Amino acid sequence: MEISSLHIENFRSFKKSEFNFSSLFNIITGKNSTGKTTILESIYLASSGKSFITSHLLNCVSFNKEYFFISLIFQDSLREKNIDILIGNGKKEIQLNHKKAKGFFEIIGILPVIFLNYKVVDIIKGGPEKRRNFLNHWLIFTDPSYYSELSNYYTLLYQRNALLKSMNISRELLSILSNKIIPVGQTIQNKRKEAISSLNDIVQKNFYKISNKNIKIEFIYNPSPTEKLLKNGMENTEIQRKRTLFGPHLDELEIFMDGIQVREFSSLGEAYSIAFAMRFAEKEAIQGKRGEEPIFLMDDFFSDLDETRRENVLRMTEGGQIFLTTLNLNIIPKDVLDKAKIISL
Ligand SMILES: Nc1ncnc2c1ncn2[C@@H]1O[C@H](COP(=O)(O)OP(=O)(O)O)[C@@H](O)[C@H]1O
Ligand SMILES: [Mg+2]
Repeated sequence: MEISSLHIENFRSFKKSEFNFSSLFNIITGKNSTGKTTILESIYLASSGKSFITSHLLNCVSFNKEYFFISLIFQDSLREKNIDILIGNGKKEIQLNHKKAKGFFEIIGILPVIFLNYKVVDIIKGGPEKRRNFLNHWLIFTDPSYYSELSNYYTLLYQRNALLKSMNISRELLSILSNKIIPVGQTIQNKRKEAISSLNDIVQKNFYKISNKNIKIEFIYNPSPTEKLLKNGMENTEIQRKRTLFGPHLDELEIFMDGIQVREFSSLGEAYSIAFAMRFAEKEAIQGKRGEEPIFLMDDFFSDLDETRRENVLRMTEGGQIFLTTLNLNIIPKDVLDKAKIISL
């Protein structure tokens, strides 16, 4: 999978710009605030329907403009494809291969993109939702029905929570919703379980490649038992607390390093290495399931990592198309610089 060109209009600081890319390395360089991160943001948006900066896509519209437009041309092993996105006040138009799509759900999952910046370490040090997001991203790009199952689950969860918050709760409706949400929740949890089962070995191997250290890394999945929603007396507790108390929205993935919990006890360097090792495990899963490499977006190319780790990380992204942004071209290894397309802003 490779992106050949990007056209953006009224997207943050860009009025109208066109970029053509190399199928291997693309290095975007320029001073602060020249728009390096913004280019990655627009690519990420076309892949996932989200920004990694804001939860309000309208914030990406240039100040004093009405809409933004992103148009991407990319190739998979079969043919050239297009994604076009126009978002503005009261407008949301998405096209796949020049045909109108009903929503982002029709394009999410098509273009596998892995975004890395210094916040990658949140997978280890952040709350459980960061690890759920990691699993969701992995599954959206390796399992064609996962995204619609997840959306269906969140719609049911929203309805069930709204009911639990209402004044006159219909027990009958609550039980109908419980019976609907349980199988969807269990499907999601079974898929997460399978993804996690392949993590132990691959992450350990990747950790060694990044840090040259041999440490036993273990993942323990704690699914929140969805079937408990139908247990006697549970509804009363839920009505009291006004929310759904079990299900995949509360799953936890615990990570241990030589038997100690990494969230509490790992150093920042170790946390970085495990987080990278996890994202590279995702790369392997995407490659294995789809037969094509994901595209890597790396923002600010880890100026805070030591040189050896930075190079190890870069070598591990190789295989597919890579975009990286940097203030300073001197931190890029020479052989990479020689074969890369340099985009100076
Ligand atoms: N909605 C917007 N409209 C216009 N400019 C914006 C908008 N949002 C952010 N910017 C500007 O875009 C620039 C940020 O670009 P960014 O991609 O973060 O730069 P870099 O990564 O090169 O440092 C900043 O100058 C910021 O003020
Ligand atoms: Mg930036």
